[in-house]
Amino acid sequence: MSRPVVGVVGAAGAVGTAAVTELHRHRRHALRLAGRRRAPLDALRGGLSADGDAPPTVETLDLADTDALQRFCAGCDVVLNCAGPAHLVEDRVARAALASGADYVDAAGDDVLWEQVRALVTGAPERTAVISAGMMPGLSALLPRHLAATGSAPPRAVLGYLGGRDRFTATAAADYLRVGEGFGQAGAALTGGVRAARPLPTRTDVELPFFPEPATAVPYLSTELERVARSLGVADATWYSVFAGPHVAQVLRQPPGGGDAPEALRRAAELDTFGQPTYQLIVVELTTAAGDARTLVLRGASASALTGVFAAVAVAALTGGTLPAGLHHAGEALDPRFAVDLLTGSAEVSDLSVYDSDAAGVGGHVEEAL
Ligand SMILES: NC(=O)c1ccc[n+]([C@@H]2O[C@H](COP(=O)([O-])OP(=O)(O)OC[C@H]3O[C@@H](n4cnc5c(N)ncnc54)[C@H](OP(=O)(O)O)[C@@H]3O)[C@@H](O)[C@H]2O)c1
Repeated sequence: MSRPVVGVVGAAGAVGTAAVTELHRHRRHALRLAGRRRAPLDALRGGLSADGDAPPTVETLDLADTDALQRFCAGCDVVLNCAGPAHLVEDRVARAALASGADYVDAAGDDVLWEQVRALVTGAPERTAVISAGMMPGLSALLPRHLAATGSAPPRAVLGYLGGRDRFTATAAADYLRVGEGFGQAGAALTGGVRAARPLPTRTDVELPFFPEPATAVPYLSTELERVARSLGVADATWYSVFAGPHVAQVLRQPPGGGDAPEALRRAAELDTFGQPTYQLIVVELTTAAGDARTLVLRGASASALTGVFAAVAVAALTGGTLPAGLHHAGEALDPRFAVDLLTGSAEVSDLSVYDSDAAGVGGHVEEAL
């Protein structure tokens, strides 16, 4: 039986490379790779292990060329978009994919993209589209769901820490600085099912469970976390974006104006990671009404790699027939067991562990009165 054809746009970028490598590891799909420049695409293809199957095909195209994009999508069963910045790409790739009769997966996706793709899927009701298949949004929703599904009592509270010491591509930096627009609110949290009246403060130089060094922790309530809390019946939800290293924290505190902020963020991350290993952690703690806590920890080397790996998992879920037609958020729609099995087999996930304890108890010191 022939394998489903998956076209990857932005294949040689940081996220695209991880997604293609992971899809190649799954051995479930025939791959078509696209981007603007030929050399990195050829290098990516050349670096994939030979497995006896036909190697991926490679095409160059610019997203601005609608006809070329349409030709690329034609004949694909699924098109995975890893090109960015997402706020400039918007629904361009989704539009071409769905018009060509392909299903769609996007490694990025905020509330704006959701509305755009929803309109497209309404016009193609037999198609499936999956957005927000990244680290956050994406794994940030899947992992609390996995922890809840494997627990013996429903959770009442969720506490999360996501981040580390890592690089930003210029593309990811440009999107990250716009993350408040159509995605969530800094300083916010849920208490008793509603947004807390007073904003939580950013914590600097704080020790956090499982993090190997003091870091800056910015409270952030995403619309994704609000939906997950609602679906799990969780009343209290607190989530922190975590940055180790002073330079990124400083740029996020006071981003320069005049369009310089993405480059400033990229450079700050270079300074913070100079001579240091990069890492990303997702720490999720769920507590039941009886006060019993469980904690999940996922560890990887970079946000781009974890995003690419989860995007590949979303493609596998889609072509495996586990998602109905319509539009989905990856972290909220994928079967957690299916996803976690694939994640734990990935070289990019160095640890995925669950503990029958609260995060501070098992992962070290955490300050009181968060
Ligand atoms: N959710 C998360 O946790 C998370 C984490 C990291 C990144 N992301 C998102 O993932 C996306 C990719 O980020 P990245 O760090 O991988 O960026 P990147 O390394 O800069 O890669 C971007 C890719 O897009 C391609 N591209 C850009 N404009 C194009 C155009 N007009 N036509 C064709 N191809 C084009 C580039 O091709 P060429 O190099 O050939 O120009 C490149 O391969 C971004 O939207 C980012 O925000 C999400």
